[in-house]
Amino acid sequence: MSDFVTESVESSIQILCFNRAEKKNAITLEMYQALTKALRRAEQEEGIKATLLYGLGGDFSSGNDIKEFVQIAQTPEKMEAIMAFLQVLSSYKKPLIAGVEGRAVGVGATMLLHCDLVLASREARLQFPFVPLGLVPEAASSHLLPQLVGHQKAFEILVLGEVVEAAEAYEMRLVNHLCEEGEAYKMALFYAEKTAALPVEAVALSKDLLKHRGQDDVQMALMREGRIFKDRLRSTEAHQAFAAFLSRNK
Ligand code: COA
Repeated sequence: MSDFVTESVESSIQILCFNRAEKKNAITLEMYQALTKALRRAEQEEGIKATLLYGLGGDFSSGNDIKEFVQIAQTPEKMEAIMAFLQVLSSYKKPLIAGVEGRAVGVGATMLLHCDLVLASREARLQFPFVPLGLVPEAASSHLLPQLVGHQKAFEILVLGEVVEAAEAYEMRLVNHLCEEGEAYKMALFYAEKTAALPVEAVALSKDLLKHRGQDDVQMALMREGRIFKDRLRSTEAHQAFAAFLSRNK
């Protein structure tokens, strides 16, 4: 397990926390690998009935580590770690529940599209700034978000990269319930426990039924986006955007 991802099990619930608060829980390749491994293990472990995702320190996640984007551009094979994580996340058979405080940016926001229940603080802010970074949407968001909100709204969110406030995310049905700031973990755990108390096989079969229809499209979107994303990482537009972020004056 990476130092930046913590794992614990409570009442048959696997709790995975991003633990890199000083970088707003930006996700590194090592973190993707740890998350992938933990999810694969939990999927096989009978004792685990649901997985809860949470970001420690007040933010869910600021998305992919931008410094590492520069390295991945030079060594594209490194992107496999991201793809493996998205693969396991998008096909995960057990209930996935997220508790969101603060910022959820980039993959920190797109991963929510794969969760079964999302509980967020009223102060949470989601953002999908792929295009401003010279990139394209990932994690099948180019497929899942238009399905949820329609093309025009999805364009505003995925192309303009506009911030989505918690109340709007709730209106869009990307978030199940809102809570007071600082309460998202508690509320997510409550829903995880509620889910875990249900008959396990019936839950798994129902999740499969709910997801079944769109699964091929999701996997195809993941691959299509992945190919383009890899190329975009090497683009001048992306390099300029990464350099601007890394050298910005705060
Ligand atoms: N990758 C690498 N480092 C990141 C990061 C990321 N995605 N997000 C934040 N950090 C780092 C900052 O560089 C800063 O590091 P420093 O203290 O060494 O300078 C630290 O985390 C704190 O971030 P800061 O920007 O000072 O916090 P903030 O509260 O002012 O803003 C965000 C928070 C999330 C809005 C802002 O950090 C941001 O926009 N991050 C980039 C998000 C992004 O574009 N992600 C990729 C999407 S594909």
